[in-house]
Amino acid sequence: MANTKSKNKSKSKRREKKKASKGWMTAETADRHDLYEKSVQNTESEIDFVDDTWMKLRGRHANLLREDFCGTAQTSVEWVLRREDNRAIGVDLDEEVVDWGRRRTEGRLDEEQAARFDVLIEDVRKVDLDPVDTILAMNFSYYLFKTREGLREYFARVREGLLDGGLFFLDSYGGSESFEEMEEERDLDGFTYVWDQHHYNPISGDVINKIHFRFPDGTEMSDAFTYEWRLWTLPELQELLLEAGFSNVTVYWEGTEDDSEEGDGEFLPTTTGEACAGWIAYIVAEK
Ligand SMILES: C[S@@+](CC[C@H](N)C(=O)[O-])C[C@H]1O[C@@H](n2cnc3c(N)ncnc32)[C@H](O)[C@@H]1O
Repeated sequence: MANTKSKNKSKSKRREKKKASKGWMTAETADRHDLYEKSVQNTESEIDFVDDTWMKLRGRHANLLREDFCGTAQTSVEWVLRREDNRAIGVDLDEEVVDWGRRRTEGRLDEEQAARFDVLIEDVRKVDLDPVDTILAMNFSYYLFKTREGLREYFARVREGLLDGGLFFLDSYGGSESFEEMEEERDLDGFTYVWDQHHYNPISGDVINKIHFRFPDGTEMSDAFTYEWRLWTLPELQELLLEAGFSNVTVYWEGTEDDSEEGDGEFLPTTTGEACAGWIAYIVAEK
């Protein structure tokens, strides 16, 4: 028995080496920001939603966009590529991720497009810019503000940063499973994305979520990203946005595919959601 096991082991070791030498990613060769962009973000559909909502609510497209918590600023890049008169400013306080994004952007934007794109290394609560049409806070980044006062103050600063009639877009997640400590895996091209709801404190609402990446050779990039957040609920968020001075706050709930329980990627305004195990919703706050 022991012999068979060790034979299998060395066979699978050879297979792993073969995969790595054939160009498969491993924990050692992969880049965490690249994997994040590939697994977490869908900037095209995000900007489609911004465009469609602007058309429906304001009868025109926005031009000037601020992307708070921009990270690699991939969404800002998508915005600049979308129309010739679009401009984007990303804001993030982490120099390392911003520098990575800047290097990546060099290959994505030509000179004219790059002139319509900027990233500032600043705290979103302190940034002082000329007002813009629209501000985004995506992938739940604002969940890091854990008190009502702190989050209301951030929302009020966002409102000040908008032109009259401007729109603030943010996303939110929840559902019965969001209160559980559990791991969810998704197989992607050449790696597995792992969303690890590592810790939840029902008294404070604090959560610690992590992202890990696993590779075909059996290696793992553990704790590639760690988020210490408060798990806000939609009623709390709507109340705080109104308290911060927004005139109208709407939740956009995702529809369900006919033949499965999966979301269909279409988000519509509503006041009634479903008690499902896991959901993602957009919130649009109007100045
Ligand atoms: C979850 S990532 C979001 C990345 C990207 N926006 C997305 O949609 O996937 C959160 C980002 O927020 C940044 N961040 C955290 N606190 C911040 C603050 N007070 N001001 C600006 N950026 C902040 C972090 O550096 C990190 O890049």
